[in-house]
Amino acid sequence: MAGSQSSGQPLVPARGSALLLLSLLLLLSQLLPGCSAQTKRYEPTWDSLDARELPAWFDEAKFGIFIHWGVFSVPGFGSEWFWWYWREQKIPAFVDFMKANYPPDFKYEDFALEFKGTFFKAYQWADIFQASGAKYIVLTTKHHEGFNLWKSNNSWNWNSVDRGPRRDIVKEIEVAIRSKTDLHFGLYYSLFEWFNPLFLLDKANKFKSKRYPVAKSLPDLYDLVNTYKPEILWADGDGDAPDTYWNSTDFLAWLYNESPVRDTVVTNDRWGLDNICRHGGYYTCSDRYNPGHLLPHKWENCMTIDKESWSYRRNAPLSDYLTIEEIVSQLVETVSCGGNFLMNIGPNKDGVISPIYEERLRQTGAWMKVNGEAIYETKPWRAQNDTLTPRVWYTSKPKENLVYAIFLQWPSSRMLVLGEPKATSGATTVKLLGYQDPLKWITVPNRGIIVELPELTLDALPCKWGWSLELRNVQ
Ligand SMILES: *[C@@H]1O[C@H](CO)[C@@H](O)[C@H](O)[C@H]1NC(C)=O
Ligand SMILES: *[C@@H]1O[C@H](CO)[C@@H](O)[C@H](O)[C@H]1NC(C)=O
Ligand SMILES: *[C@@H]1O[C@H](CO)[C@@H](O)[C@H](O)[C@H]1NC(C)=O
Repeated sequence: MAGSQSSGQPLVPARGSALLLLSLLLLLSQLLPGCSAQTKRYEPTWDSLDARELPAWFDEAKFGIFIHWGVFSVPGFGSEWFWWYWREQKIPAFVDFMKANYPPDFKYEDFALEFKGTFFKAYQWADIFQASGAKYIVLTTKHHEGFNLWKSNNSWNWNSVDRGPRRDIVKEIEVAIRSKTDLHFGLYYSLFEWFNPLFLLDKANKFKSKRYPVAKSLPDLYDLVNTYKPEILWADGDGDAPDTYWNSTDFLAWLYNESPVRDTVVTNDRWGLDNICRHGGYYTCSDRYNPGHLLPHKWENCMTIDKESWSYRRNAPLSDYLTIEEIVSQLVETVSCGGNFLMNIGPNKDGVISPIYEERLRQTGAWMKVNGEAIYETKPWRAQNDTLTPRVWYTSKPKENLVYAIFLQWPSSRMLVLGEPKATSGATTVKLLGYQDPLKWITVPNRGIIVELPELTLDALPCKWGWSLELRNVQ
């Protein structure tokens, strides 16, 4: 049935009954989206690849966890860009840190000896991720430093099996996620590497040669997909090289047509210079992207709990970590505007998710337990935030005639004024998620409704960092 949509052949009345049957089948395959989606073939062009519909699970999931773990977790200083800032940019804070703490001949590669993951237990990570309410994870399998968290044929000895932990980290996390949780398993891969000699050679040739993608990034990517079957492939680090250098459209056509995850895999938009926010699967646009308004294309806000870094910092003070109120606020705003929320943590070199990260994840999970109905599987509503009361964000479930108003501030008057929802006489009901009795409300002609919140003692509040009203039958 491949090509049935693009053949351009009109369905002529068939003479033989076999032909008639075939014609009917072809027609059917065009009418049933499930049928034609599986047989659609993608060409290695952005026109064709960009037209692929995202597998539905991704938009429904809304919330994922990003994990930055690698050799950079050993110095645990500055950020995951440590090597670059120290050796290439020679930023004084990094140079001084090395002078004060390591012998003069110490190389970045030597940090790998200390990257042992002494207390790393993938099952403990999986427990925490499940408790957070996230529906997917994205693990850095290789950052710009080039160190693979699995042993590929093209990682020489710069990988976690030959050095450091001497374990296949990607495999252990895959097994834990798939056997202990219902989360989707996603992988991050940095295309370029700061100091890979093959990449530097290609760069010196203005990317006319392709030594590095042929010897490293492409075989690694095929290996990752075939071996670990990720449902998200999160590309990053184009190194200012165009997608033609990376062979991205060719690879993505294979991923969507041939690969073992062709029906479920989701990708992002970082597959080459100037692709971001324009080509690929969903858009990430920039780090911590949170536009505050609805976008026509599916997008993701990838952000960090540590405001300064994606990787673990040994010297981070509490004030550098987002509070749970800030996290809930960003999550709600993101989902209202059609985005997914990818929240990053940086485990330390021992493989421990520090208590501050663990607490934030468990708090998010506690909030989601009460308010998840207003987040998972929702669609953006016609209005994203309220026009009268600040810090009120909307989501909806159109099929069930439900609109959710998530409010981040409990009004001291207990009267919540909502300018956007218009009551439909008799049919409208209002509920507070996590609270049994329906709430009283009155309508303000042409101005929306005013909801009377219940008088609750602190221990009776369904949660502490934001609340959701379920509005049934409003316009
Ligand atoms: C890159 O893509 C071209 C076709 O566009 C293909 O001929 C070539 O084999 C690909 N290279 C690799 C290493 O996959
Ligand atoms: C790695 O190399 C070995 C030996 O050449 C080969 O048998 C194997 O298929 C390769 N694996 C991948 C994933 O390319
Ligand atoms: C709604 O959100 C937008 C974007 O964040 C903001 O500019 C606007 O002030 C908000 N409206 C209210 C009433 O808070």
